[in-house]
Amino acid sequence: MLSSERVAELVARAAQAREHAYAPYSAFPVGAALLLDSGEIVTGGNVENASYGLSICAERSAVVRAVARGARRYLAIAVVGPKELDLSPCGACRQFLSEFGLDIEVVTLRGGQPTTRALRELLPDAFDAESLP
Ligand code: THU
Repeated sequence: MLSSERVAELVARAAQAREHAYAPYSAFPVGAALLLDSGEIVTGGNVENASYGLSICAERSAVVRAVARGARRYLAIAVVGPKELDLSPCGACRQFLSEFGLDIEVVTLRGGQPTTRALRELLPDAFDAESLP
């Protein structure tokens, strides 16, 4: 369970990370702040490309940065879009995050207020790698 101070900190860090998003095509900058089990926070922003389909969302960019530094256990992720608009992670990011656990808490803004839901709730009936042959 995240404290309200922790939630506020994550949202603030995600909003800060949004400043470095590269979103010239959509003009929709997004920031994400991933809380590691160590208590550290790793941030990311969306990075778009002239070949649109190559663009990466803020959530995945934060996870990729965390994995690159050897961190694979996450407690939570906050995501903040432009002007604190309501935003919910896309399906690809839900799946990408699920690789690291369905208990990750996902903090998003609803009417400007942080809402926290477990990834398990955002991705019901998730594909389970255990079922691979
Ligand atoms: N985007 C994110 O980075 N995270 C989300 O949760 C939703 C969408 C990005 C993808 C694209 O660069 C831009 O926002 C518009 O869809």
